[in-house]
Amino acid sequence: MTQPGRFISFEGGEGAGKSTQARRLASALEKRGIACVVTREPGGSPGAEEIRKLLVHGNPGRWDALTETLLLYAARADHVARTIKPAMARGRWAICDRFADSTYAYQGAGRGLDRETVRRIEAVAIGDFRPDCTFVLDLPAADGLKRAGARASAETRFEQFDISFHERLRQAFLDIAKRAPDRCRVIDASADEDTVAEAIWKAVASRFALG
Ligand code: TMP
Repeated sequence: MTQPGRFISFEGGEGAGKSTQARRLASALEKRGIACVVTREPGGSPGAEEIRKLLVHGNPGRWDALTETLLLYAARADHVARTIKPAMARGRWAICDRFADSTYAYQGAGRGLDRETVRRIEAVAIGDFRPDCTFVLDLPAADGLKRAGARASAETRFEQFDISFHERLRQAFLDIAKRAPDRCRVIDASADEDTVAEAIWKAVASRFALG
């Protein structure tokens, strides 16, 4: 019988290097014969990618925090059901650039929606489905925004929130990691790309007993 795959998420503020590190981890796993699916949120399935467009473009005030959270969980429910769970059932590891911790940070701590409301929406949308392991890439908010600003991307809606919003996010991710120490590992993302990748690989190899 196929052994079910694992689910690893990458979290952090803007410009922390999550997508690069997600790809690097997947390629390190594939070198050891572990098939991976690299995916992202919001998005990761055709329907969720449609919803992503509504979230990442336009004015910061386009949605209120509750509506935004409902859109995110509509996308997440579709992504989990159509991409992540089927991949894991086939023995693949799902490596995801952002997952539910981003909602607690951005819509909760950032935009002020209370935690209990996020938790209730989450329970309806995905039950108790959680990553096996989460890397929080930590970086001063101003440094991350500078990196993100250097990218030519039209997906700037969240980057436009003020610096205090982004500073609250950083603290929120650190608080999440503190509350879930078995699942989360904080990584210093101000180090160079190779150093960050090495720290992540070491943690994965030890957590999942890979040689
Ligand atoms: P990305 O820039 O990491 O691809 O993510 C797109 C934006 O979506 C990013 O600015 C953070 C935001 N976001 C939330 O606000 N809440 C969420 O739950 C997720 C997954 C992303």
